[in-house]
Amino acid sequence: MIKVIVTWLWFIHIILCLENWPTLSDTLQVAIRSQRDVSMTVPIDQISNAGGSLNSMIFDQYGYTMDSMSYVDNFLTVGVQTFMVDLYWNEFTQVWQLCPAPIPNNVTSNIVDINWNNRSYKCDTNISTQTFLNRFNNFILETNTNFEVSLITVLLNLKSIHYTKSNMTIGYDSLFNHTIPGNSTLNATFSGLGTSLFTPEVLQTYRNTVAVDTTNMGFYNSSSALMPSLNMVLYTELRRIMLNVVSNELISSTRGYTITENDKMGLFFNDTLPTSIKATNSESMTHLCQNLVENFDTERTNFRFIIDNDFDPFTLSTVRQYIRCGLTPIFNATAYKVNSTRIRDLGQIFNAFIPYSLWSWAPFQPVTPNNQFTNSSSMSNGTIPYRCVLLNTNGWEVANCYDSYPFACQNSSSPHDWYIDPNKQKSYFDIDHDDCPEDFKFSLPRSNGEMLSLMNMTDTEVLPIWIDLNDLTVDNCFVSGGPYAECPYSKTITANTFVKSIAPSVVVGVVILILIFFEKVFRSNPIQTNRKRYWKRTLQDYYEKNDYEGVPS
Ligand SMILES: *[C@@H]1O[C@H](CO)[C@@H](O)[C@H](O)[C@H]1NC(C)=O
Ligand SMILES: *[C@@H]1O[C@H](CO)[C@@H](O)[C@H](O)[C@H]1NC(C)=O
Ligand SMILES: *[C@@H]1O[C@H](CO)[C@@H](O)[C@H](O)[C@H]1NC(C)=O
Ligand SMILES: *[C@@H]1O[C@H](CO)[C@@H](O)[C@H](O)[C@H]1NC(C)=O
Ligand SMILES: *[C@@H]1O[C@H](CO)[C@@H](O)[C@H](O)[C@H]1NC(C)=O
Ligand SMILES: *[C@@H]1O[C@H](CO)[C@@H](O)[C@H](O)[C@H]1NC(C)=O
Ligand SMILES: *[C@@H]1O[C@H](CO)[C@@H](O)[C@H](O)[C@H]1NC(C)=O
Ligand SMILES: *[C@@H]1O[C@H](CO)[C@@H](O)[C@H](O)[C@H]1NC(C)=O
Ligand SMILES: *[C@@H]1O[C@H](CO)[C@@H](O)[C@H](O)[C@H]1NC(C)=O
Ligand SMILES: *[C@@H]1O[C@H](CO)[C@@H](O)[C@H](O)[C@H]1NC(C)=O
Ligand SMILES: *[C@@H]1O[C@H](CO)[C@@H](O)[C@H](O)[C@H]1NC(C)=O
Ligand SMILES: *[C@@H]1O[C@H](CO)[C@@H](O)[C@H](O)[C@H]1NC(C)=O
Repeated sequence: MIKVIVTWLWFIHIILCLENWPTLSDTLQVAIRSQRDVSMTVPIDQISNAGGSLNSMIFDQYGYTMDSMSYVDNFLTVGVQTFMVDLYWNEFTQVWQLCPAPIPNNVTSNIVDINWNNRSYKCDTNISTQTFLNRFNNFILETNTNFEVSLITVLLNLKSIHYTKSNMTIGYDSLFNHTIPGNSTLNATFSGLGTSLFTPEVLQTYRNTVAVDTTNMGFYNSSSALMPSLNMVLYTELRRIMLNVVSNELISSTRGYTITENDKMGLFFNDTLPTSIKATNSESMTHLCQNLVENFDTERTNFRFIIDNDFDPFTLSTVRQYIRCGLTPIFNATAYKVNSTRIRDLGQIFNAFIPYSLWSWAPFQPVTPNNQFTNSSSMSNGTIPYRCVLLNTNGWEVANCYDSYPFACQNSSSPHDWYIDPNKQKSYFDIDHDDCPEDFKFSLPRSNGEMLSLMNMTDTEVLPIWIDLNDLTVDNCFVSGGPYAECPYSKTITANTFVKSIAPSVVVGVVILILIFFEKVFRSNPIQTNRKRYWKRTLQDYYEKNDYEGVPS
């Protein structure tokens, strides 16, 4: 019962927070989840999930305030799993904080406008690093099921709030020593994440205990440090979040911060996690991608990011090309151009870009074509099984399992090695073990790197080709392993509830009733006007879509 109530409250919370925000369509949810599922067996450094920079996209624009914190929730809700954030060492108060400026002593309210280093910042003195981490803790709790679980990566830039003593800065010490709650070490700052944190210590323990690897991982780890698979981190170690310090601009001074061995036990640094971050305007895309393709075999273990900025923001097509060449995009610009319109609203930006940010599925896939009941050569009987997956020029797409195409054979011990025979075409059902050369098997790319190598070995005229992925056993549960592969969730969730968990119409129905109640309660409150309009629209859309009976509109 408690659980049910919590679920309702959660839905209300989501609906309240998402005023202009996209909710993920069913299709996107399926796409994101199946991308996660196919990547379960590859090491976590090969996983690629588009991310956003919180400072330039949220905090610098909307302030370091509580309202901005709900944007962090929104990012999480729409499936963002990589976050970049700047963390400041306050030399005046000797604690870590999010606000990039020191807080003056004479503050009279908790929201302060501060000028610092020729920039002005709006900071809420009630916001601590703990407030921020709690958003992640809440999300982790809410999604702690086999079905929803994900690994969050936080990329940290360490910076100093520093001043040099001069006759211009006399008295600064006592002027800016207002303390906001915080911790005086990095390790303590993040200890609130508790056992959700995937730490270098956990990694070291894994490395010490793991025996010889049986899967592909031997390949990935042959050139560099051993990394566990996503499956291992999420389901065995039960870790949900990792912190990776990607830049260190701490200023050394008598009041500065020194990174300790203890910090290195909780957070990853460049010596424990090889990471490369390139800026979009640093070199040409072709050059960047070519380098990657050429060096892939020698630099396998490597987190690879590409970050944009206002001089060279991602577009729908460039972001796809970057993902295609094995990079994970970090959105860091304040405005984007989509269909020659400049958009600044975060909700709009995400709406436009999310479908283009998966390395696997083509934008707006997986969908069954509308014409599935007509125009097919291979069908004479009833429904056409549009339930098998092809690799095409734009990514994966659903196709008719009975149609014949070439198919992707992957080297069992070297997953970046593929074999495709353009002249050998079969239906998905007919592809057999011995249709691939020795040591190769019919398979699919499980990371953007494997995808990159497959695309690189395949001339575009050969596409589309079958990859080993289908949802034949349970609708929308994409699995590899041939037509008889089972949906991993079907043991705990029946086919019927699987569909329901994607569109929980019963729960939503109840929430709608609660919302109607809320709407009446808040009718006289002017602050709620916008929100009310939003609810009205949501309700209206919902009635229209679902043909609800007995509910007044
Ligand atoms: C991110 O954007 C900010 C401006 O909003 C810019 O100053 C910064 O250099 C960008 N980061 C990178 C790594 O390009
Ligand atoms: C706090 O002190 C600074 C410098 O003395 C001054 O510029 C500012 O107006 C003061 N703010 C308040 C709220 O008193
Ligand atoms: C702030 O601006 C002034 C004048 O433009 C400049 O002299 C000073 O170096 C700047 N300070 C910082 C910290 O950038
Ligand atoms: C901010 O903190 C102060 C005490 O530090 C508290 O009185 C106030 O209610 C808080 N404001 C908000 C909006 O939480
Ligand atoms: C402050 O120092 C500068 C040089 O660093 C000097 O030119 C200036 O006269 C000093 N101002 C005062 C008020 O001492
Ligand atoms: C800030 O500095 C002033 C003057 O040195 C001192 O009186 C005050 O107690 C300090 N406040 C804090 C919070 O340290
Ligand atoms: C970190 O700081 C917060 C707020 O001051 C405090 O509640 C918490 O106990 C501190 N954590 C550690 C490990 O010191
Ligand atoms: C450092 O952080 C880790 C993980 O959060 C924790 O287990 C450990 O006790 C911390 N060490 C200290 C000295 O706080
Ligand atoms: C790690 O970063 C530090 C500076 O932040 C740099 O001096 C060092 O060379 C880097 N180490 C590696 C292995 O990249
Ligand atoms: C851009 O245009 C395409 C088709 O012209 C349309 O489907 C899409 O919704 C548009 N995107 C945005 C964000 O307006
Ligand atoms: C539909 O037709 C295909 C071949 O066209 C056949 O293999 C399949 O068994 C048929 N399905 C049913 C349910 O009859
Ligand atoms: C594959 O990558 C190499 C560069 O390493 C390039 O020379 C070659 O043309 C690529 N092949 C295809 C089909 O893209």
